[in-house]
Amino acid sequence: MDTVGEEYLRRRESMLAKLEELADEHAKAVAGGGEKYVERHRKRGKLLARERIELLIDPDSPFLELSPLAAWGSEFPVGASVVTGIGVIEGVECVITANDPTVRGGSSNPWTLRKTLRAADIALKNRLPYVNLVESGGADLPTQKEIFIPGGRIFRDLTRLSAAGIPTIALVFGNSTAGGAYVPGMSDYVVMVRERAKVFLGGPPLVKMATGEESDDESLGGAEMHARTSGLADYLAEDEHDALRLGRSIVRSLRWRKLGNAPLAVREPRYPADELLGIIPEDLKVPFDPREVIARIVDASEFEEFKPLYGSSLVTGWARLHGYPIGILANARGVLFSEESQKATQFIQLANQSRTPLLFLQNTTGYMVGKDYEQGGIIKHGAMMINAVSNSTVPHLTVTMGASYGAGNYGMCGRAYDPRFLFTWPSAKSAVMGPAQLAGVLSIVGRAAAQARGQVYDEEGDAAMRAMVEAQIEAESLPFFLSGRLYDDGVIDPRDTRTVLGICLSAVNSAAEPAEGRFGVFRP
Ligand code: COA
Repeated sequence: MDTVGEEYLRRRESMLAKLEELADEHAKAVAGGGEKYVERHRKRGKLLARERIELLIDPDSPFLELSPLAAWGSEFPVGASVVTGIGVIEGVECVITANDPTVRGGSSNPWTLRKTLRAADIALKNRLPYVNLVESGGADLPTQKEIFIPGGRIFRDLTRLSAAGIPTIALVFGNSTAGGAYVPGMSDYVVMVRERAKVFLGGPPLVKMATGEESDDESLGGAEMHARTSGLADYLAEDEHDALRLGRSIVRSLRWRKLGNAPLAVREPRYPADELLGIIPEDLKVPFDPREVIARIVDASEFEEFKPLYGSSLVTGWARLHGYPIGILANARGVLFSEESQKATQFIQLANQSRTPLLFLQNTTGYMVGKDYEQGGIIKHGAMMINAVSNSTVPHLTVTMGASYGAGNYGMCGRAYDPRFLFTWPSAKSAVMGPAQLAGVLSIVGRAAAQARGQVYDEEGDAAMRAMVEAQIEAESLPFFLSGRLYDDGVIDPRDTRTVLGICLSAVNSAAEPAEGRFGVFRP
């Protein structure tokens, strides 16, 4: 790759501009409920959600925050009033979630719920101990209709984690009322902070309404009461720092052992990660060679390409990443043809034979359409690939580098295909099809319908409709919007891709190697 040419520099500038926007959006999540609420929180002598996490994890160890843009584009603050991610406590990778009490009292809105459920799912699939830093006003009451019934899963997940032998730990720093009381209620280990934790099914006003009984916070749900009387608290912490110390000590006593594969020797790539900034064209219609990406993320930049001469718009091959063997499928020229689908199917089967995790690098506009391709069996070949992706049992990781359109999103292991982790670059776009194509299809369908009714088609209205639809679809295909809806686990700086994937591969190997599965019936 020419790393001094004009094209490279232009692409790099464009990516850097997108990264600046990303930093602005991340800053919103970090700001939580804003200055006023942060200050009030501090005045109460409390630590912020991210500070709690920082003190909980091993000094100078990374924290892979997940879905920091959750709720982006919604009526709720970016970040969805909860922080989730993977961090290392006493040498043990754990999923950590922390309510952000500066955002509407840390209450859970529909996006908080999705983010919390996703965190529990990651803990379960990857067998990671689950640590909850609790301080929440419970359900966001005005949107209760969207969270109350599905929200029951939070408690179900906690007890299923426990049943699967995955430890669940709740450190309660403040309010944990009503349904929230079942977070400590369902956890294996519970720490409560003296004079701060409040854990009750109903607070004093509700009790008064229900039974007429006069009570106070401490006797209903204080830490001391739960530690001495109800037995819900296993440990009574003197203050927040003490609770975090106890949390670390509990994890240490788990004597946790990973059951997956250990990494082989790690070798850094021969090409610098910084050059990843200059690869993606500003216009996603322009193809780029994913080998340039692979060379900058895999160990020693070594890639053993499989079937390079066949179905060449999909690159497949073997590599290692942070010492973990992986198989890679990467789109080269956007469109998937029958050959690419057959090659992908074979490759996925091979990875399953050798029990090698798969990495999907997405830049696809979907499966090829047209008479020749339909007659050539593009549906059945695409279906074969989707069948293989769906039923493959080795862990999958997906990175959306560029386009992710149409059924290409499915075949390349999009969100609905349950990759263990899915990250997006700021250059990505995803939708059922491109905005211009979608508006054009609507226009053709509208024109035909008008003709069938014997009406004259309103050309002016058509042009306005097209412009409006194009703008809407474009906005809805952008990474912040999609990340806001939890369609990925976060938008990342391309330069961090190797580190992020390395953390994911390590996390994946906390679980035992998954059992072999069966593929469905292929129609060759
Ligand atoms: N739903 C929606 N908004 C909520 C909320 C909830 N469950 N809990 C708090 N908020 C809002 C408050 O209305 C307030 O908004 P405002 O600043 O715009 O007026 C903001 O969040 C901060 O709340 P505040 O009460 O000032 O914070 P606090 O730190 O002093 O107290 C709580 C936090 C959680 C103890 C307290 O807000 C509370 O008791 N909330 C209701 C808890 C409850 O009964 N939930 C039902 C669960 S099913």
